[in-house]
Amino acid sequence: MMSVHPGKSSLEAALIFLCVAQLTAGLKCVCQLCANHTCETSADGACWNSVMLIDGKEETVKSCLSASEMKGRVFCYSSRNVSKRSCCFTDYCNNETLHLHPERPLEEPGWTRMQLFAVILVPCCLLCAALLLAVFIARGQHCAYTLAHKQDPEEPVDDQMLMSADKCLQDLIYDMSTSGSGSGLPLLVQRTIARTIVLQESIGKGRFGEVWRGKWRGEDVAVKIFSSRDERSWFREAEIYQTIMLRHENILGFIAADNKDNGSWTQLWLVSEYHVHGSLYDYLNRYTVSVEGMIVLALSIASGLAHLHMEIIGTQGKPAIAHRDLKSKNVLVKKNGTAVIADLGLAVKHDTNTVDIPSNHRVGTKRYMAPEILDESINMNIFESFKRADIYSLGLLFWELARRCSDRGLHEDFQLPYYDLVPSDPSIEEMRKVVCDQKLRPNIPNQWQSCEVLRVMGRLIRECWYTNSAARLTALRVKKTVSQLSAIRDVKE
Ligand SMILES: Nc1ncnc2c1ncn2[C@@H]1O[C@H](COP(=O)(O)OP(=O)(O)OP(=O)(O)O)[C@@H](O)[C@H]1O
Ligand SMILES: [Mg+2]
Repeated sequence: MMSVHPGKSSLEAALIFLCVAQLTAGLKCVCQLCANHTCETSADGACWNSVMLIDGKEETVKSCLSASEMKGRVFCYSSRNVSKRSCCFTDYCNNETLHLHPERPLEEPGWTRMQLFAVILVPCCLLCAALLLAVFIARGQHCAYTLAHKQDPEEPVDDQMLMSADKCLQDLIYDMSTSGSGSGLPLLVQRTIARTIVLQESIGKGRFGEVWRGKWRGEDVAVKIFSSRDERSWFREAEIYQTIMLRHENILGFIAADNKDNGSWTQLWLVSEYHVHGSLYDYLNRYTVSVEGMIVLALSIASGLAHLHMEIIGTQGKPAIAHRDLKSKNVLVKKNGTAVIADLGLAVKHDTNTVDIPSNHRVGTKRYMAPEILDESINMNIFESFKRADIYSLGLLFWELARRCSDRGLHEDFQLPYYDLVPSDPSIEEMRKVVCDQKLRPNIPNQWQSCEVLRVMGRLIRECWYTNSAARLTALRVKKTVSQLSAIRDVKE
């Protein structure tokens, strides 16, 4: 009979314990910008190592990736010749220094040969650069965007081709929707775009950064600059915008995300399409809208939200997404009078039965928070809860919009919801008293009854802000009702 060796079994137990501890604990990684040049990941995180060609020089970045960053597909991606990234899973495994090209054999001594090369190469390069510049200037302002030049969607997309000098934003956005993943431009292309933008003027400041108008190849773009303190918000927003199949005419068109490390701090950029009218909040403060104008705005907002909320099944599908910070400042007005939903930094995705809560601790805007969020009765385990809270905010947003609808010269001034019931920048407690305890909602003006479209809008708005979240309309229902408003208008006129 075999005798049990007490020393051996405790050694085995210790080894098993060590392995399990290793698996569940985080990793230690090299981190250039951290204290002691070390960082520690959460469980399921990874060490990150990257090298990228910037202004002809190799720049390396080493840091930790959290579990949620690992989920974002972008960080472990390498791009042929120009960037190399790797994620690894043992302590300090990112200690090695990556290079883009294998070491070249040492040049043979002898200046005369090099000089000969220089004499031939330098003028050639200068000539090429001059030619490229001429082509760029000639074509930069006027972008020839014809179907004939579009790439076959089946062909693999090449970074260099994506960035050819005659591409304008429209071309790139087209490339984005056909470049395989359907989720965004390759990282290197995004970085190249971001680094060739010239900032023009600051156009707004929010809680998590400053928004600038910038120029890229003669076209306006919006650049939201986050401070390194708000890296999580930047990452989350970039990640959500790059969700497969998210692109929609009523969702802000994302172009690029870039994190530029200048040695002492990291600049975090989010580049998107620029809309000269700014937010719906800015727009309604400045202008009133006609009944038709209101219908167009309401329909585009409802369409954007319905797309966000909708889950599309299939390989090219999209998860359902709830916005969680819907308000008039987070909707932008396009030149053609339609609107786009912006600011997805707080959004949650619904990935097959799991609700993925963003890793930052941002909460929505208190004034627009649904009663169940204010009194914390919301069931966060059910994704539907987040969609229903969005609908409540949509109701408030529609109320702001409908007040500015000018029917036969009559309209209200611009006001935020609950302007007459809570102070500016209200606390959760102040909001809760009004919305949950007193069950008050913004006032629906009597004169809306005398305009059929506004009457229907009033009813729709009420059905969005019920206390009982299950009784609220769905985004799809709102969209359908709003799309029928123009028919009402046509019949009545
Ligand atoms: N793509 C864009 N095109 C034009 N203007 C924009 C764009 N994005 C943002 N803006 C302007 O910049 C302002 C600031 O935007 P930002 O999202 O940072 O903050 P906010 O929405 O005003 O507030 P919050 O931080 O509470 O969301 C907006 O109100 C809008 O006027
Ligand atoms: Mg915003």
